Amino acid sequence: MKVQAQSGDAVATGAALASFPQPGVAVVFGAGGGIGAALVDALRASRRFPEVMAFGRSTSPSIDLLDEASLGRAAKLAADRGVLRLVIDATGFLHDGLQSPEKSWQELDGAKLGRSFALNAIGPALLMKHVLPCLAPRGKSVFATLSARVGSIGDNRLGGWYAYRASKAALNQLVRTASIELARRRPEALCVALHPGTVATPLSAPFAKTGLEVHEPGAAAQHLLAVIDRLGVDSSGGFFDWRGQAVPW
Ligand SMILES: NC(=O)c1ccc[n+]([C@@H]2O[C@H](COP(=O)([O-])OP(=O)(O)OC[C@H]3O[C@@H](n4cnc5c(N)ncnc54)[C@H](OP(=O)(O)O)[C@@H]3O)[C@@H](O)[C@H]2O)c1
Repeated sequence: MKVQAQSGDAVATGAALASFPQPGVAVVFGAGGGIGAALVDALRASRRFPEVMAFGRSTSPSIDLLDEASLGRAAKLAADRGVLRLVIDATGFLHDGLQSPEKSWQELDGAKLGRSFALNAIGPALLMKHVLPCLAPRGKSVFATLSARVGSIGDNRLGGWYAYRASKAALNQLVRTASIELARRRPEALCVALHPGTVATPLSAPFAKTGLEVHEPGAAAQHLLAVIDRLGVDSSGGFFDWRGQAVPW
């Protein structure tokens, strides 16, 4: 596995995040994950937001994607601190001791499919339900959720990974649908899905292949923040990779 050095302007200097009006609160859900923790560090280092809040299963209060009330409590807590300018959902699930990505339809299992949908699509949808109404009423604000290129239907050439692919495709549709409602309620706000690239985290570790371009979490966080900084409101409802290029649905 080749891990890419932290290079490029956005990584060297850190994303300025100057497109966000001040003041405002930034929030990361999934703050204990590889990319989530790096996003929290990068946002704090940027000093663009007076407050950067971090929620995960190990924070206090904690959140669990399978517990809507915990998501509602966290969203309210964050909104009580000030207008929400940037909310990043860095949660996600690919494998654990109970399940791993399917190589064949013979491995399809209803309970495992349901679990992937609960964690990758339904949980983030419920998060949007509680967070989108709290985005700043005026000026740029962003809700970004980490999806995955393998959730692209148009880009699916290899097959396999049924549950992960399908649950991320569902997430993308939920983001697109929410963005249309958001445009009516918060005309300057964005709701987007982002592909972070392949990043060296526990999620990707078992699937590392020689020759694959892999980014360190710190570099991935800078790439994502640079993309978020560049996106204008006409990009709301889109699906973008870590370079800012649109990913086919
Ligand atoms: N790494 C890659 O190469 C790659 C590529 C494409 C897309 N992505 C996407 O990027 C996102 C972040 O992935 P990562 O690489 O940082 O993986 P990771 O290190 O495994 O982090 C996964 C995150 O999801 C959270 N999570 C899992 N189940 C949860 C639950 N029931 N309730 C609340 N949070 C839960 C974890 O919380 P805890 O900290 O509490 O465990 C953790 O914060 C995911 O959506 C993933 O699909 C990653």
